[in-house]
Amino acid sequence: MKKAVIIYNSKKGATKRYAEQISVYLNSKKLTTQVLSIDNYSEEFIQDADYLMLGCWTSGLMVFMQNPEKDWRQFASRLPETLKAKTALFTTYKVLTGSMFKNMRKQLNGKADSCTTEIKSRNGFLSEKDKEAIDAFIG
Ligand SMILES: Cc1cc2nc3c(=O)[nH]c(=O)nc-3n(C[C@H](O)[C@H](O)[C@H](O)COP(=O)(O)O)c2cc1C
Repeated sequence: MKKAVIIYNSKKGATKRYAEQISVYLNSKKLTTQVLSIDNYSEEFIQDADYLMLGCWTSGLMVFMQNPEKDWRQFASRLPETLKAKTALFTTYKVLTGSMFKNMRKQLNGKADSCTTEIKSRNGFLSEKDKEAIDAFIG
């Protein structure tokens, strides 16, 4: 069985819910999953992961300057230099994600350059489009 590890940063719960919904969907696709907050991250969690999904809430000035917040930036710097798992990014937001994914990548500093899957949600629930993106990611 392939394993996906989903690691999120959430303040009010939307991103946590999104992470959990991603997990439920991946379980329905016969993957084993582990969901954890960046607060509980350590390298051992991702050692045997085939897929890694990294998420955080969108922080910025609503229409521009979106960035992952400091805690997530620190988390990104703690990830190993080379991620063996295939990696995707996710975020939750209210208005616009703008530069969010670009800046998440910047913080990952080349660690997940091959990752192209990005999904986003306003409410933390998976849309049909998200499901299609995840299908392609694990396909
Ligand atoms: C300080 C702050 C800045 C935010 N900046 C943005 C923003 O630039 N664009 C946006 O769409 N949402 C923005 N939001 C909304 C959050 O990204 C959104 O509510 C998110 O779902 C919160 O996730 P959480 O419930 O996991 O904490 C901001 C929220 C806060 C508290």
